[in-house]
Amino acid sequence: MSTPKPSLGRALAEAADKADELAKFRNEFVFGEENIIYLDGNSLGRLTKKGQQKLLRSIDEEWGTGLIRGWGHDWLLLGRRLGDKIAQIIGAKANEVLVSDSTSINLFKLISAAMKVHNRKVILTLADNFPSDLYILENAGELRIMKTVEQLLENLNEDTGVVSLTHTCYKTGQVFDMHLITEAAHKVGALVIWDLSHSAGVMPLQVDKHFVDMAVGCTYKYMNGGPGSPAFIFVREELLPHLENPIRGWFGHADPFSFNPEYKPAETIEKFLTGTPPVLSMAALEPALDMILEAGLDRLRKKSFLLTEYVIALVQERLVKYGVEIASPAEGGKRGSHVALMHPEAWKLTQALIKHGVIPDFREPNILRIGLAPIYTSFVEVFDAITMLETILAENLHAKFPATRQSVS
Ligand SMILES: Cc1ncc(COP(=O)(O)O)c(C=O)c1O
Repeated sequence: MSTPKPSLGRALAEAADKADELAKFRNEFVFGEENIIYLDGNSLGRLTKKGQQKLLRSIDEEWGTGLIRGWGHDWLLLGRRLGDKIAQIIGAKANEVLVSDSTSINLFKLISAAMKVHNRKVILTLADNFPSDLYILENAGELRIMKTVEQLLENLNEDTGVVSLTHTCYKTGQVFDMHLITEAAHKVGALVIWDLSHSAGVMPLQVDKHFVDMAVGCTYKYMNGGPGSPAFIFVREELLPHLENPIRGWFGHADPFSFNPEYKPAETIEKFLTGTPPVLSMAALEPALDMILEAGLDRLRKKSFLLTEYVIALVQERLVKYGVEIASPAEGGKRGSHVALMHPEAWKLTQALIKHGVIPDFREPNILRIGLAPIYTSFVEVFDAITMLETILAENLHAKFPATRQSVS
């Protein structure tokens, strides 16, 4: 990418935006009147203009006019078609990915299926895994929670049934080594499930190349599918015949519309379906996925790297003196697309930023996350947001906000 490495002043941020090959994609997103600086695309991505149009068409034409006829042409195939596109994003084959249900439900399906493959009870994970993942895993076997990857690797043995990790840590933004961990797990005969929620759509992934067994991930973060857009589920082709969906339902049947009282699972990835797909919740996702594929994952990763590097440089220069620390890895290759800042009053700072037109997010107990979505975040936005945070800290503008949180944000 020809983007020059941005330095710290606003003029340089402007120059970096001018040279940015991905800048044109910003115009493809809906921006409200308020001129908000949105740094929370790692939680809920922005709405694409094409996604908005598609959603409206789905309501007016497909449902409003077409009614039940929608199932006859497009709706039944949607989860698979979106899955084929996500397969390109995560480095899988077209027949290995489906869009359905939530990430939590898909993880439940996979861990339950995986624990039946062999007679091993132990599941290994990391303490910083996303809580929903931990809740599901602990219900599926004997969960052993490790503090570090090194500890996890040391504890792998013939008792380990499954290793389940989130590829990019939702708190620190640390990216774990997919190849190393998958290979180590396979050496002791364990299966691996990766949660790709904070990686998919923002960096190139190669699940097939690394022989990943199974994966899940959200589509409403960097893939911009919208609030509650269903998640994806990936199963390596060779493993599929050995896995059973624990939530049997008619959509996972080999012939759903035969209404056969006897369950016969599909032989394809559709065996992991259960019930009726949420058609409207999938509508905005397809144009958003097309945009990611057009932008290209290498280019997205390069810009994401420059954006996170820029945040870190600005924080080091201006905010460290106010007690702000960086919790994300310093090494770019080990960092995802958000930067985690630590401060004892992170929640108050988050509220003050929102009040002043900058939306980041907060994670307990003291992390302020700056999410950089390279497909629409600009360098100038980063500069202005960090400058706002500097002003808030310098003028103690956060002092008046509550110290504990009352609601989601
Ligand atoms: C890493 C990770 N895994 C799982 C989830 C839960 O996803 P869902 O609500 O779709 O089950 C999230 C939600 O933010 C997440 O960040």
